[in-house]
Amino acid sequence: MLEPRGRGLTVELADGTVLLDAVSGTFNLPLGYSHPDVVMAVQRQMGEAAHLSSEFTKERARDVLIPLLEHAPEGISSAWVRDLTGSTANECAIRIAQKFTGKSEVASLFLSHHGQTLATTGVSGNAFRRSFFPASHTAGMKFPAPYCHRCFYGQSPKNCGLLCAERLDDFITFASTGSVAAVIVEPVLGNGGNIVPPPGYFERLREICGDHGILIIADEVQTGLGRLGDVFGSPVVGLRPDIITLAKGLGGTGVPMGAVLMREELDVLEPYDHSFTSGASPLGLAAAEATIGVVTEEEFLVDVRRKGELLGGQLRELAAGCEIVSDVRGLGMMWGLEISDRQGNPDVEATRAVISTAREEESLILRPSRYGFGNTVKVRPALIASENEIGEIVDRLGSALRKVGAAR
Ligand SMILES: Cc1ncc(COP(=O)(O)O)c(C=O)c1O
Repeated sequence: MLEPRGRGLTVELADGTVLLDAVSGTFNLPLGYSHPDVVMAVQRQMGEAAHLSSEFTKERARDVLIPLLEHAPEGISSAWVRDLTGSTANECAIRIAQKFTGKSEVASLFLSHHGQTLATTGVSGNAFRRSFFPASHTAGMKFPAPYCHRCFYGQSPKNCGLLCAERLDDFITFASTGSVAAVIVEPVLGNGGNIVPPPGYFERLREICGDHGILIIADEVQTGLGRLGDVFGSPVVGLRPDIITLAKGLGGTGVPMGAVLMREELDVLEPYDHSFTSGASPLGLAAAEATIGVVTEEEFLVDVRRKGELLGGQLRELAAGCEIVSDVRGLGMMWGLEISDRQGNPDVEATRAVISTAREEESLILRPSRYGFGNTVKVRPALIASENEIGEIVDRLGSALRKVGAAR
């Protein structure tokens, strides 16, 4: 049986249908499908050795990440490369925070997603994934996300005084065990609905965490590797983390690969604390090396920023004429459109209809937000998208939105 083939932003199905992918696979293809630099690097490596134990790969792992560390936020200078997925990279970060601080709890935001292992479902800010699986000991306090469009405190960003950050102090005092090792945050909440925190939010979070001796883990599994127009998403939103986790985009074109970056003094794990058979696999390292080579080029990032503005501008224009869209938000090449009913309430049914209409009638691949209200249509094309492809995505999405709007 013929398998679907991916090239650039397109997926060709066995029956010849060609789909335009507006969401980079599972948000893990910054370089699109089958990017030649990554394909060649992995093919070459396959002929040398698909597996080598960490004894033979540790130096290469360090070297591969050097150019990435050169672009890392201030103070982040060490790396730990033994992961294949975002979930275990986050577990690694949790272990580092626990071992370094001697504390146990990890606090996180409502609507956040940090992975699918027992520990990371425990720290993710949505309960449905743990319905049948009792929370593990790492599960910690959750606090409201900086979600201005539907503020948990019923405030407006114009005069809220950043209540969502300010109240963290109360949560730490009254809702935690008092033993909080770290707060884990996504620079832009991806699965929660493409939520972009308001200006000043992360700066205040940093101050409060500093007062309590709490480390900050930036989960950059979605925002890392150029997605927000910079190599890392944290500086784009004013976040100064102690630890950064990467996965998804690190493999460039879909090769599993994860990494954890940190301040030097946090490099406290021994190999036996956290490692996997295929961690730092030569194939993953080859893919990461090729990907980092592309993404750290300044011209590449300048182009991403320019295309991000183009995409955001076109989506805003589109939304202005679509009654069912109540908010458009995003940064770089990471955008979301919130779908609401006439009263402004989340309209999950219409959201699903937009996604299925786009797929069935416009040959466009979109994905909805999974957490929270599930009413955000995510638009995150590969960073290599051409201007024409961006225009095509917006046109097809517009057509799907109008059809669903007219049917309502
Ligand atoms: C922000 C974030 N963190 C962690 C993960 C988990 O990554 P993985 O599925 O590679 O384990 C995801 C996956 O969607 C994610 O979006």
